[in-house]
Amino acid sequence: MNDECDVLFYVLDQLDEKSLKRFRFYLSGASSVDGLKPIPNGTLTSDVTDTVEKLLQTYGKENSLKIVKEILCKIGLNSLAVEVDNWMKRKDRYMNQMVESDEYQDWMRVSERHKAAMKKRFEYVCEGTVEGKKSKLNKIYTTLQNVRGRCEGVNTEHEIMEIEPQSRSLKWQDTEFDFNDLFSHRSWSKGNTKTVLTEGIGGIGKTVYIHKFILDWAEGKSNQHINFVFLLPFRKLNSIKDEQCSLLKLLQKLYPELEDLKDQRAFEHCKVMFIFDGLDESQLKFNFENTSQTVDKEITNLIEGTALPSAKIWITSRPAASRQIPSEYINQVIEAQGFTGPQKEEYFRKNLNDMSLAEKVIKHMKSIKSLFIMCHMPLFCWILATVCTNLDRTGRWSSQEFPTTLTEMLIHFLFVQINVKNKKQYNKYEDNKLELLKRHNRR
Ligand SMILES: Nc1ncnc2c1ncn2[C@@H]1O[C@H](COP(=O)(O)OP(=O)(O)OP(=O)(O)O)[C@@H](O)[C@H]1O
Ligand SMILES: [Mg+2]
Repeated sequence: MNDECDVLFYVLDQLDEKSLKRFRFYLSGASSVDGLKPIPNGTLTSDVTDTVEKLLQTYGKENSLKIVKEILCKIGLNSLAVEVDNWMKRKDRYMNQMVESDEYQDWMRVSERHKAAMKKRFEYVCEGTVEGKKSKLNKIYTTLQNVRGRCEGVNTEHEIMEIEPQSRSLKWQDTEFDFNDLFSHRSWSKGNTKTVLTEGIGGIGKTVYIHKFILDWAEGKSNQHINFVFLLPFRKLNSIKDEQCSLLKLLQKLYPELEDLKDQRAFEHCKVMFIFDGLDESQLKFNFENTSQTVDKEITNLIEGTALPSAKIWITSRPAASRQIPSEYINQVIEAQGFTGPQKEEYFRKNLNDMSLAEKVIKHMKSIKSLFIMCHMPLFCWILATVCTNLDRTGRWSSQEFPTTLTEMLIHFLFVQINVKNKKQYNKYEDNKLELLKRHNRR
């Protein structure tokens, strides 16, 4: 018997009809293993394969065996319980030897190299700012609000209604939420949350949040029990989705620091996390029945849990697209809600180097209600910061030209961006909008 799945089938295949019935009875009601929930009555069929699948989905591999062992004792099948126990002990011994082996030490070296490479990759953000400058992620990062659950009954009458938190009738199971808790060592060993989905509208900060999560890990500030974190943006996967490629080859393509890894077993014995960013941009076909060997299928297998069942999966998506993944594969849904009032202010203080300008922008934002509401979206804060910096630089802050409506703000932002291009070509800013547009159209 190679893995937990084999043991589960071995045990259940030995039970006669009466024992199986009693086994399911205990499974659906009375397990006392360390806070684990019972499987709801009525969701278990008499089919053994279904029962094994349900066990693995609900509890994960290790906990399934613990529960099975306990129930076997309860229904008087002690010798079978001892067999399960012996298998678990053998596996523990094997794992301990594994950790001391040269092979494992090699994997750890690759893991350290990967961590260092990830730190380099995510240390800076390139925001396409006016000066095209790179900023340190830790410097500009402002805490975002995340909420557990799924939002229901979004008011769709007006876009501002849609994004203003108070205007929605919310049904959340919980309030503030930190991803570091979800993927903590303790929750990892409990094994009951495998796949998490972060939902949030465009520009609400899902990608930046992920980058910060990875950077904190790579800098040794959090989640040090995790050995590998792989970010796989769907936009990148789209271009290679039909290639025939094993998971290891795919990862080596995107993460050259893995080139020394000879086979995929490292990922079975280490703690690995896959982050899939931007499901809304995905062109992958999540065919959970298909058996091909394409990148498409490799990703589906990971999400489904048939490949690397112990790996954690984190997917981000704009709300409308998230249902491409059947809900049975998602254990938790977290909504990214953007900035609260004080976080909006913190954003400008962190992102604008000039403190007096930051205070001016904050005052201005607070004085116009639509601006204040829109600023719950980090992307909009960035637009406002860009526009205000430009107005300040050109000495037009207090003039009639100051944008007061949303449309004026976006138009001004567009001019600022066109000017960035103009500066690259003519090495100067053009403040005459008509002239700027003429030049832009000539190209
Ligand atoms: N926590 C943050 N601190 C500071 N700035 C942020 C933060 N989150 C987002 N931003 C700003 O907002 C912009 C948009 O954020 P991001 O790309 O993460 O949004 P998104 O939710 O991934 O959007 P999309 O659905 O389009 O992918 C970033 O480029 C950055 O300027
Ligand atoms: Mg994104």
